[in-house]
Amino acid sequence: MAKILPIIKNPSPLLREKSKEISLKKIKTNELKELCADMIKTMKEKDGVGLAAPQIGKNIRLITINTKDGPKVMINPKITGKSWAKEWNEEGCLSVPGVYGKVRRNKKINCVYFDKKGQKTKIQALGLLAFVIQHETDHLDGILFIDKAKEIKKIKAI
Ligand code: CO
Repeated sequence: MAKILPIIKNPSPLLREKSKEISLKKIKTNELKELCADMIKTMKEKDGVGLAAPQIGKNIRLITINTKDGPKVMINPKITGKSWAKEWNEEGCLSVPGVYGKVRRNKKINCVYFDKKGQKTKIQALGLLAFVIQHETDHLDGILFIDKAKEIKKIKAI
């Protein structure tokens, strides 16, 4: 059974590390499959649009994203192309609770990654999906949205 994992919160040095690539051999292990299932469960439970492995304390290049077609696992994601066009998008993050701000990101990106079966996959993402992939891949490089955001708002938890 998949577990809900505790989320690492800002400020933690774990959120500031550059995460390591995952080997193809490792992708095929049960340990990694379980971790993916746990991250998907955690993301859904906490109502996140995406989750990056450093947020649950693992500095490896793995992200999960909630898409309209269901949860997506992206291993070693790499943005290979970006549109000139950018757009401001309101963002939040499970690791920075109660904080929101506007971040300017590329509207369209090309991305290569390995899926949970270890299959190399290429996608072109637009709009919200493109923004989420950029937010989550930033986590893998130790970058948080608050580093880039303007009009930062703090909302007190009730
Ligand atoms: Co985040």
